[in-house]
Amino acid sequence: MNRRFRLLASKIKMKEANVGIIGLGYVGLPLVKLFLQAGFPVTGFDIDPKKVASLNRGRSYIRHISAQELKAFLAQKKFRATSDFSRLAAMDVIIICVPTPLDAHKNPDLSFILSTSRTIARYLRKGQLIVLESTTYPGTTEEEMLPILEGKGLKAGEDFFLAFSPERENPGDKTYSTAQIPKVIGGLTKNCLQLARFLYGQVVIKTVPVSSPRVAEAVKLLENIFRSVNIAMVNEMKVIFERLGIDIWEVIQAASTKPFGYMPFYPGPGYGGHCIPVDPFYLTWKAKEVEYPTKFIELAGEINTKMPYYVVNKTIEALNRQGKSIRGARVLVLGIAYKRDIDDQRESPSLKIISLFMEKGARVAYHDPYVPRSGGHRQYPGLELHSVALTAKRLKNSDAVIIATDHSVFDYDWIARAAPLIIDTRNAIKKKRKNVIKA
Ligand SMILES: NC(=O)c1ccc[n+]([C@@H]2O[C@H](COP(=O)([O-])OP(=O)(O)OC[C@H]3O[C@@H](n4cnc5c(N)ncnc54)[C@H](O)[C@@H]3O)[C@@H](O)[C@H]2O)c1
Repeated sequence: MNRRFRLLASKIKMKEANVGIIGLGYVGLPLVKLFLQAGFPVTGFDIDPKKVASLNRGRSYIRHISAQELKAFLAQKKFRATSDFSRLAAMDVIIICVPTPLDAHKNPDLSFILSTSRTIARYLRKGQLIVLESTTYPGTTEEEMLPILEGKGLKAGEDFFLAFSPERENPGDKTYSTAQIPKVIGGLTKNCLQLARFLYGQVVIKTVPVSSPRVAEAVKLLENIFRSVNIAMVNEMKVIFERLGIDIWEVIQAASTKPFGYMPFYPGPGYGGHCIPVDPFYLTWKAKEVEYPTKFIELAGEINTKMPYYVVNKTIEALNRQGKSIRGARVLVLGIAYKRDIDDQRESPSLKIISLFMEKGARVAYHDPYVPRSGGHRQYPGLELHSVALTAKRLKNSDAVIIATDHSVFDYDWIARAAPLIIDTRNAIKKKRKNVIKA
C-alpha cells in the first residue's frame, strides 16, 4: 500500500478530505448534501455562474436540498460553490456529475466528460481520488478519461486514483434517499477500488465492489435498459388490451399479487427524464463496435416514443365523439414534469403531447405546481408557456383535460367532477366515470 493511499485513507477516515463535486445538478447537489451531512468539507464546481451564485447566497434550485439546510452549511463554512476550477488542486476527492446527453443523431455526447477531464488534468496532483458518476457506456473511464488524466505523466493507481461509481438517484423517491441506495463501484486498480469504497462507505448504507470501471458502467446501463424495456412492454400491452376491452390497470394489479417472478411496471404517456430515454442508446452506440444490434433497446425506444401520439389520438377521438374538432379546442395538460412529485421536465412526454396539440391547432395550457415555466427546449422551440392556475372555471371551460403527470397534490375527485372530458394517462382517477377516458 503506498504512502499516498494511506494519507488519503486517513483524511477520509477523519472526515478531513476536501471533497470537490463537479456538476451541481440533480445528481451533484444531493451528493453535496450527503458529504456535508457526513461532516466533510465540500466544494461544488459548476460552469453555470447563476447556479454558483445562487448556492452561495443560500438559495437552492432543486427540491432535494432546502434553503435552510444550505444556509446552515454555508454558515459553518463547510460548503462553497465556485466556477474557479483552479481550486480543484486543493481537493482530495473529485466526483464528476456532469451531463451525458445524446447528440442530434442519438449518439453519445461525451463532450462534458471530456472537457471536465481536461480541466481536472490541468490541476491534477498526486494523492487525489477521481470518481466519475455520470452515466455512460462501458469503457468511458478507461478509454476516454484515463489517457487525458495521465497526459501529464502522473500514473493512475499509484500517483492518483480513479474509479467509476454510477449515480442511482431516484428523484421524488421518499423511501430511498441517496444514502440508502447501495453504491456500485469499479476501480481502475485494487487501490483505486479500495479508496473509493472507503470514501462512499462513509456516506451510503452499502458499497458493492465490481471488478472494473467498465463493469460498473455496464451495471448502470443494464438497470436503465431494464426499465425502458419493461415500460415499453407494458405500454404495448396497454394498447392491445384496450382493443380487447380489458383494463390494463386491473390486470397489473392482479398480476402483482404473484409473490415471485413478476414485477409491476405501469403504462403512461411515454417516458421521460434525463436517464431512461437517453442512457440505453449509449450502449447501442458502443455495441456497434462489436457489430451487435441492440434490438430490445431500439424497440423499447420506438414503442415509448409513440405513446404521446397515442394520447393525442385518444383525445382527438374523444372530442370527435362529442362533435368537436381538435383545431381550436381548449386543452389543459395537468403535469409537465416527467413523473410524479418532481420538478424535472427534461425529456418529459408532456412536452411532446403539448407540442402535438399545438401543431393541430389546439389552444393548450398546462398546470404544474412544481414547474412554473416551460420553455427554451431545443426540440420544441415554439413551446413557451407558464403554468396556469388550476380553477374549477378553467377545468369546466376546457374541452379536454389531460392527466399527464399524477402529482399527489392534485385533487382528482374535484378534477373529475369539474372537467367535461378527461384523458387519464396514469390511472389517477380510480372510479369509473363517463367523462374519464384512460389512455
Ligand atoms: N437526474 C437523475 O435522476 C440521474 C440519475 C442517475 C444518473 N444521472 C446521470 O448523472 C449525470 C448528471 O445528471 P444531472 O441530472 O445531475 O444533470 P444536470 O443537468 O441536472 O446537472 C449537470 C450540471 O453540470 C454542470 N456542468 C456541465 N458541464 C460542466 C463542466 N464542464 N464543468 C462543471 N459543471 C458542468 C451543469 O451546469 C449542471 O449544473 C448524467 O450523466 C446523468 O445521466 C442522472
